[in-house]
Amino acid sequence: MNKIKVGIVGGTGYTGVELLRLLARHPQVQLQVITSRGEAGLPVADLFPSLRGVVPLIFSDPAKVDLTQCDVVFFATPHGVAMAQTPALVTAGVKVIDLAADFRLQDAAEFEHWYKLPHSCTDILSQAVYGLPEVYADAVKQAQVIGNPGCYPTTVLLGLAPLLEQGWLDFSVPIIADAKSGVSGAGRKAEVATLFAEASDNLRAYGVAGHRHHPEILAQLKKLSGNDDVRLIFVPHLIPMIRGMLTTLHVKLNAQGRSQDLQAVYAQRYADAPFVDVMPAGVLPDTRSVRGANVLRLSITRQPDDYVTLVVVQDNLVKGASGQAVQNMNLMFDLPADTGLQVLPLLP
Ligand SMILES: NC(=O)c1ccc[n+]([C@@H]2O[C@H](COP(=O)([O-])OP(=O)(O)OC[C@H]3O[C@@H](n4cnc5c(N)ncnc54)[C@H](OP(=O)(O)O)[C@@H]3O)[C@@H](O)[C@H]2O)c1
Repeated sequence: MNKIKVGIVGGTGYTGVELLRLLARHPQVQLQVITSRGEAGLPVADLFPSLRGVVPLIFSDPAKVDLTQCDVVFFATPHGVAMAQTPALVTAGVKVIDLAADFRLQDAAEFEHWYKLPHSCTDILSQAVYGLPEVYADAVKQAQVIGNPGCYPTTVLLGLAPLLEQGWLDFSVPIIADAKSGVSGAGRKAEVATLFAEASDNLRAYGVAGHRHHPEILAQLKKLSGNDDVRLIFVPHLIPMIRGMLTTLHVKLNAQGRSQDLQAVYAQRYADAPFVDVMPAGVLPDTRSVRGANVLRLSITRQPDDYVTLVVVQDNLVKGASGQAVQNMNLMFDLPADTGLQVLPLLP
C-alpha cells in the first residue's frame, strides 16, 4: 500500500504538534504539508525540538499550499477554518478530519448559535460523520469528512454509551457531568486565564451557565438513547495540570437497569475496543495512567437510590483530540485501528 499523504493545517498548536508526534512514527503515513500563518518558512523542528531528526518539513503558509496533493487533511485549527476549505478538498477527493466543531453539530442553527458563525457548507455537514470510532466505526470507514469529537464529549459519551444503548437510564432526572481539564485544553494561544500565575495552584469552574460542548453532548446523548427527553447538567473546570481530563458522571438507572451487572455489561461492550479500558470493580482511574496515550479508562460505582457514578479519564490531547483523529484516519484508510497508536502512557 502507498503511504497516506497527510496535510496538517494548524501545525503550531497543541493538537497540531500532537498529531505530528503520533504521525511521524505512523508506519503508513507520509507527512506532506504542515501549515502555519505566523511561522511559514521555519523548520518544524526549530519550533518543536522534540521533533528534531524526525520531522524534516518546513511550515508552509496555508494561503499558498496546495492541499489537494494530500490524501487526508487534518484541521487542527479554530472553528470556521475547516468549513471554508473543505468543499474544494472534497471535490478533489481528499478526506478531511476536523478537530474543531465545524462538522460536529448536525443542526446548523445550533452551530451558528454557539459558534457565532453561519455554517457555509451544510450539504457537506449533512454527510459528515461524528468521529467517535467506538460507536460509529462503520460510518467512519465510509466517511469523506469527519467531525472529530470534542474532548469533554468523548469522556461523557464513551462513559455512558453502554447504558444509553441498552435504554437503562431514568431520564426523569438529568445526567450530571462534572468535568475537569488540564490547561492545554485551551490551546497554545496566549490568554490571561491560562497564565502560570493564574492557572497553577488554583481550581475553577467555567462555562457553568452554558458551554459549547453542551449542545454537542446533548445531541449525541439523544441519538444514542433514541430519547429526546434526556437532559444534561455539564460543568467543566480548569485544573492546574498540563494534560489530562477527568469526568465524573452521575446517572440514575431505570427499573430495567437496576437489576443488571453493569461491570460485566461494560466489560463486554468494550471488549473489542482497544482504546477503552474498563477498570476492575472497586478500582478508580487517574489521569496519569493515560498521559500521552490514546486510552480512555473508566470505572463504574453503584450509589444509593439506583444512582451510578462513572469516573472517566483520558489525555485531552490524545484520545480527546489528535489520537482519536488518527484512530479515525486508520479506519477511513482500512488500517487496523491501533496503527501508530501503540504508545504507552508516560509515568510518573
Ligand atoms: N487542546 C485540546 O485539548 C483540544 C481537544 C479537542 C479539540 N480541540 C480543538 O482542536 C482545535 C485546535 O486546538 P488547539 O488546542 O491545537 O489550538 P491552538 O493551540 O490554539 O492552535 C491553533 C492552530 O491553528 C492555526 N490557525 C489559527 N487560525 C488559523 C486560520 N485562520 N487559518 C489557518 N490556521 C489557523 C494556528 O497556527 P498559526 O497561527 O501559526 O497559523 C495554530 O497552529 C480547536 O478547534 C480546538 O477546539 C482542542
